[in-house]
Amino acid sequence: MSQTPRTSFPKDQIKVLLLENIHPLAKDIFTGEGFQVETASGALSPTQLREKLRDVHVLGIRSKTNVTAEALADAKRLLTIGAFCIGTNQIDLDTARLKGIPVFNAPFGNTRSVAEMVLAEIIMLSRQLGQRTQEMHKKVWKKVSTQCFEVRGKTLGIIGYGNIGTQVSTLAEALGMTVIFFDIVAKLPRGNAKACNSITELLKEADFVTLHVPATPQTENMISVEELKLMKPNSYLINASRGTVVDVPALADALKSKHLAGAAIDVFPEEPENNTESFATELQGISNMILTPHIGGATEEAQANIGGEVPAALIRFVNSGATPNSVNFPIVDLPPTRKSHRILNVHQNVPGVLREINRIVSDLGANIAAQALATDADIGYLVMDTDQELSTKIKQEIEALKTSIKTRILY
Ligand code: NAI
Repeated sequence: MSQTPRTSFPKDQIKVLLLENIHPLAKDIFTGEGFQVETASGALSPTQLREKLRDVHVLGIRSKTNVTAEALADAKRLLTIGAFCIGTNQIDLDTARLKGIPVFNAPFGNTRSVAEMVLAEIIMLSRQLGQRTQEMHKKVWKKVSTQCFEVRGKTLGIIGYGNIGTQVSTLAEALGMTVIFFDIVAKLPRGNAKACNSITELLKEADFVTLHVPATPQTENMISVEELKLMKPNSYLINASRGTVVDVPALADALKSKHLAGAAIDVFPEEPENNTESFATELQGISNMILTPHIGGATEEAQANIGGEVPAALIRFVNSGATPNSVNFPIVDLPPTRKSHRILNVHQNVPGVLREINRIVSDLGANIAAQALATDADIGYLVMDTDQELSTKIKQEIEALKTSIKTRILY
């Protein structure tokens, strides 16, 4: 008999497919784990992906691969999907969930990159640096101090105090700014930052307003004609969140009428698919207007962070079944129990499933060392550590239940 411990599924048979030029660090991490890795530079169409996913266990994509229901139709072996970016709109999360496939993304990988860019823009706007550099490139020497300000002592209003908003808060205080913020969820203020009770309160007080909210029906055109009117005369607006959050024609009017002293916009309601398409917006040609092509999170560091963050979550799920931070799945994170085997079961969330599973265990005379269940409206996710001798039999019986969607065993 071999002395090598048995594994439920030999690691060298786990196939990982990484599309869209994912950072090479990801491949190194998966290879280091003993998995087989195939990489491709481009995206695949749903039809091509369907074919490819027949024998893939772990899929990694960025924003251009659409993982539709069609793409997942034959993905019987697929255990998990990693989005090597923040957004997961390109994945049919519900279909994946109902097939027992958790999806993970990289929520923090580019947080710092966005925050640093926002800080740079605050100073650039305040000192009209965009304007000055454009003039110099046109051979114009315009040394002025009128309407150019230090940011020290000014008030920064942050709308959306999440990962990025709180980083911006910390960095802005280091520059001597007063920070106020508004969030729909109660948040612990960083440093001396103060929470506002409403967006109105924030808009009336801030010299700079920066937006860090997600794209939701509530945030669509969150900053429009009325909100811009509430902003202080000669204040500045920064949007590096999502393009739908700002009413662009209204912003163009507020800048042309000189009510606002400047703006920096990184995201737009409609953005080109790639770098070969041209781009037009009402905001072009307006003075003290910084326009950037959705590059807030686009740094080498962010790509490397994402290249490390997502594989860590995927490997943890493959090896232990843990789903913390999954974007579409009930969260279970059970520490491993010694001398047990672990059964992972995704099932339809109908009454009596847990009773059935516990009946199987009890009828077989097995012991449960640890058990954790989390559910959503449609599915339940059970992680259970049980006797090594009986685990295979238990897994077979649970798998045979009509309610079971996916069942795995980890030795
Ligand atoms: P997060 O989820 O950590 O924070 C978002 C915050 O907004 C949360 O605290 C949430 O409670 C709050 N919020 C939601 N709806 C709100 C509302 N109606 N009013 C006030 N607050 C509200 O997200 P994170 O990571 O900080 O990202 C923020 C935004 O930045 C997202 O839209 C994200 O897509 C975008 N982003 C843009 C990048 C770029 O390249 N420009 C790169 C990375 C993220």
